[in-house]
Amino acid sequence: MKISVTDHAGTEHELEALPGWRVMEIIRDWDLPIKAECGGACACATCHVYVDAAWFGRLPGESEEEIDQLEILADRMPNSRLACQVLMSEELDGLKVTLAPGSRP
Ligand code: FES
Repeated sequence: MKISVTDHAGTEHELEALPGWRVMEIIRDWDLPIKAECGGACACATCHVYVDAAWFGRLPGESEEEIDQLEILADRMPNSRLACQVLMSEELDGLKVTLAPGSRP
């Protein structure tokens, strides 16, 4: 399965993805620039991504911890999520996200 990630320069990348992995880990493991300072602990919000409109409603909902982190982001949009809180699954094959400015390393 694959995900599509648009980087900070606007270039789109198709990345091979495995189920059970966090979207943040997939992005990082393919060497795209994502800060992800806390390593996936939902404590830094530097894995902020914008989810493609067609996909946003298909993701499992946010935890309270994720909502708390999203609320402090100046560049939050209605389609904002933290990439470390989205687990890859068969249902998300083809997911499209864009790296938000605050995720730049
Ligand atoms: Fe820190 Fe996602 S990596 S909140």
